[in-house]
Amino acid sequence: MSVIPPASTPRHVAIIMDGNGRWAEQRRRPRLVGHRAGARAVRDTIEFCIDRGVEALTLFAFSSENWGRPQEEVSGLMRLFLSVLDREVDELARRGARIRFIGEAQAFSPDIQKRMQATEALTAANTGLTLVIAANYGGRQDIATAARQLATEARDGRIDPATIDETAFGDRMALADLPAVDLCIRTGGDLRISNFLLWQLAYAELWFTPTLWPDMDAATLQAAFDDFSRRQRRFGLTGAQASRQQA
Ligand code: FPP
Repeated sequence: MSVIPPASTPRHVAIIMDGNGRWAEQRRRPRLVGHRAGARAVRDTIEFCIDRGVEALTLFAFSSENWGRPQEEVSGLMRLFLSVLDREVDELARRGARIRFIGEAQAFSPDIQKRMQATEALTAANTGLTLVIAANYGGRQDIATAARQLATEARDGRIDPATIDETAFGDRMALADLPAVDLCIRTGGDLRISNFLLWQLAYAELWFTPTLWPDMDAATLQAAFDDFSRRQRRFGLTGAQASRQQA
């Protein structure tokens, strides 16, 4: 068995924040109460990542499939996003965070779109944690967008189709300018990716916990980071080769 690499902190962490609804149902409260509690867990998680020197944190806040939820839940979530943006952005900016959004923003109300753009502009020059909020995001949609862009460039003669490779494709996907996702955490007990970062998770370490998202805390995040530091990442090589590369 090859040597396990030394403890390391993930540079880029992505999280599927699941379990808000069940957390509320367990308390016989409306689902929105769970989302509100989830927003507190978001704040604690950002804090944790800043303290650990994580470079990028990508949070799955709203999938392209979530529009199908009851109207009351969707509009409540939208109001929650707005109030979180209003409340937290200044403090995050003060702490050096750069905030970005991925996903199809045009589906959101003009008000939310304006706040998203203002947030990105306000924090664009910051050099601390890059916080990416995936909102109306879908992994397949991301891949289709990159394919459409490549096709357009080829049609316009800006690229030669023969040169289209993984790098050309990856360069046109969300998060292309950030370090690769090292660790993907999913709370809430389900063992699936749910159309999150399909391309970008190719070599990410996956970590699942039954903890419902509103109960996410520093101890659980630390358990995920500790587990990550014990994994041997082989990237398709043999254990011996990977150990030599990491030495
Ligand atoms: C999934 O839980 C969670 C969501 C669809 C929304 C996530 C939103 C937040 C954590 C609130 C604030 C976030 C930001 C970035 C400001 P679920 O409702 O699917 O839970 P269930 O599986 O128990 O029903």
